[in-house]
Amino acid sequence: MKILVTGGAGFIGSHVAEAYVAAGHDVVVVDDLSSGKRHQVPQGARLVQMDIRDPRIRDVFADEKPALLNQHAAQMDVRRSVADPGFDADVNILGLLNLLEGARAAGTRRVLFASSGGAAYGEQDEFPATETHKLEPVSPYGVSKRASELYLGCYRAMYGLEYVAMRYANVYGPRQDPHGEAGVVAISTLRLLNGERPTINGDGKQTRTTSSSRTWCGRTSRWRRAPTSAR
Ligand SMILES: NC(=O)c1ccc[n+]([C@@H]2O[C@H](COP(=O)([O-])OP(=O)(O)OC[C@H]3O[C@@H](n4cnc5c(N)ncnc54)[C@H](O)[C@@H]3O)[C@@H](O)[C@H]2O)c1
Repeated sequence: MKILVTGGAGFIGSHVAEAYVAAGHDVVVVDDLSSGKRHQVPQGARLVQMDIRDPRIRDVFADEKPALLNQHAAQMDVRRSVADPGFDADVNILGLLNLLEGARAAGTRRVLFASSGGAAYGEQDEFPATETHKLEPVSPYGVSKRASELYLGCYRAMYGLEYVAMRYANVYGPRQDPHGEAGVVAISTLRLLNGERPTINGDGKQTRTTSSSRTWCGRTSRWRRAPTSAR
């Protein structure tokens, strides 16, 4: 099957692309390499270096005609979304719409979308959250993921474009950048490996963490300052 993987030079997307190649699929990766790395694109996959907001994305779909779009490219830093919600919406919402327009015109049948658990649910009432848990995001990043799911539902209703939204929690593993602002497991593990203490804000019972200068206010209250790390 021809599969277009966006964000396939990044942490999760490169593993996804690798698995598709190993399963014998024909894989095209679209990534602007803003944080992804060329060498992480698996051998056997072709890289198109392009921003998902670029209008030429439609030409890529027209040329490649992928049966499946696996959408992992995103602005994925919660704190940046708070500092610059317009940029977050531009990449995560308008970028997705650009892809969906290309996909429907090219006859793509299905979209797999990397959504978010923690960020889209907001403050959880149930642990663990079920799929029917209320979605009340409290960060622009969470809103962009929720809005993306709504657009996907809309495209399914309008054009029959099937989708699956995967609400990831805190993913961790090889190729994750432990030096960034996001990726609590990698950041904390690196600190432990360096003999340093990981930063834990609050009393340790909270389900998300923040950077040292910011405070997560617990399960029943709201962010006092910018949220980070947990996605
Ligand atoms: N890592 C997690 O714990 C986690 C949790 C929930 C959801 N997610 C979602 O999973 C997806 C992948 O996350 P990741 O951790 O692998 O991040 P990552 O930064 O390693 O990968 C994102 C990739 O997208 C590319 N990219 C960013 N903006 C782009 C643009 N405008 N056009 C084209 N390419 C662009 C980057 O270069 C990078 O290769 C994201 O959608 C993220 O929101 C991740």
